[in-house]
Amino acid sequence: MEKNKLPIAFFDSGVGGISVLREAVKLLPNEDYLFFGDSANAPYGTRSRQEILELTLGHARRFYERGIKALVIACNTATSAAINDLRRIYTDIPVIGIEPALKPAALMLPHPTVIVMATPLTVRERKFHELLGHYEGKASVIVLGCPGLMEFVENGTVDGPDVTLYLKELLTPHLEKQKVDAIVLGCTHYPFVAPVIRRIAGNNVRIFDGGPGTARELKRRLAADHLLNPSAAPGTVTFENSLPEKVSLCRKLLKES
Ligand code: DGL
Repeated sequence: MEKNKLPIAFFDSGVGGISVLREAVKLLPNEDYLFFGDSANAPYGTRSRQEILELTLGHARRFYERGIKALVIACNTATSAAINDLRRIYTDIPVIGIEPALKPAALMLPHPTVIVMATPLTVRERKFHELLGHYEGKASVIVLGCPGLMEFVENGTVDGPDVTLYLKELLTPHLEKQKVDAIVLGCTHYPFVAPVIRRIAGNNVRIFDGGPGTARELKRRLAADHLLNPSAAPGTVTFENSLPEKVSLCRKLLKES
């Protein structure tokens, strides 16, 4: 098969990466997508860097052997742990990662106050500390590792009393202490609970999700490598998951997006 007709692989620790996939499908509807979620091994965010690296490299190898034209690591945690190795190994396809969208949040106003929500692993990693370093002096950044939050989404709970209580307890002390200008959703599961965050934070706080920027980067990279699918017909999305019962949740999340 011609390389530009091969599918684009998306990977996440679970169902969260659908928040990135949905943006890619909007932007590039005529591409074929293969989405793999590793829900059996989720959460990644409370694992060690080495474990995440090994899991991610294994999934990437299986994708690559099947024939793909690009790999999107639709997981901030796996990107933190594995993107450098993946780019070193797979030099003949675009490998795109995601990181917390701190840049647009930090630059939205002179010296804004920004909350970054991400997994414990993401906020511990060097990659994140380098990112923070870029905006030192330009924004006040409050970093919140959120153990337990992705599990709500993973279980299909994107609203209701339990997730509302979790987010209230997490965010309210910071929202009451100072004027917060922005909240960055630094885990791909979190955009699915953005309506709850919006209710708690109110309309004056901007919410940043890295999904749209990642989809734009995918398009740029495919175009630069002449890999955009020339077909005008709508593409397909194939879901796979290490917990097969999660596939119906993936379909639902994409459909409702
Ligand atoms: N969706 C993942 C991310 O973007 C992480 C969730 C997990 O802890 O597995 O960071």
